[in-house]
Amino acid sequence: MTAWAVLAAAGRGERLGADRPKSFTKLRDRPLVAESLERLDASGWIDAIVIAAPPGWEEPSILLAEELGCSKVTACVAGGETRAESVRAAVAEVADDAAVIVVHDAARPVLTDEVLERVLTALNEGWDGAVPALPLADTIKRVQGERVVETLPRDELVAAQTPQAFLASALREALSGELAGATDCAALVEALGLRVTAVPGDPRLLKVTDSADLELIAGWL
Ligand code: CTP
Ligand code: MG
Repeated sequence: MTAWAVLAAAGRGERLGADRPKSFTKLRDRPLVAESLERLDASGWIDAIVIAAPPGWEEPSILLAEELGCSKVTACVAGGETRAESVRAAVAEVADDAAVIVVHDAARPVLTDEVLERVLTALNEGWDGAVPALPLADTIKRVQGERVVETLPRDELVAAQTPQAFLASALREALSGELAGATDCAALVEALGLRVTAVPGDPRLLKVTDSADLELIAGWL
């Protein structure tokens, strides 16, 4: 079973507000994207990698991969306006014979083999897609303006992370349709009526959104 990874690294990082895209801000002494790239490359679960880089940052991305000795990096494309468009551009470079595509956010540096194993095992068990997910600690409410209009049943809700794994055919079909509004790839696959499962996530897969997240994660490495 050939598994390709798509590393979504093309975002601008507006909430972080640095002088460069989030993927190239420093986590300890390296560009943020180095951590997840190196971990994907080292994983026995992954055969090849395509990077979606911020437009104009393809060359630095390739140089970084070379510096790190990441020999599984097969292509690097310029990302799009949205995450889903970036993933679509990267998936276009995935080989036709790939059985599985794993999509991971560069903004979640602390990728482990254990979570890759969980999402890929779920595909072997017959699911079309698998996402790592965490239970919610807080009660979740829907608000309109200042008013709370609904309290949602927390036991049915989870927070979805990446890496998300899909049968290649399912993800390709999902990406061939309308992408607007999708904040993760699983949403597009679910919208086709395909079967996506949630497996245990990992709190260390925290997504870097602001500089406090960078400091917190730097302390974990
Ligand atoms: N991403 C991407 N292409 C985009 C937007 C996002 O590849 N057009 C990637 C980001 O690089 C990140 C992941 O999707 O690894 C999750 O996105 P997010 O955390 O929102 O990152 P940014 O969009 O860069 O940040 P912000 O929303 O603050 O601008
Ligand atoms: Mg964003």
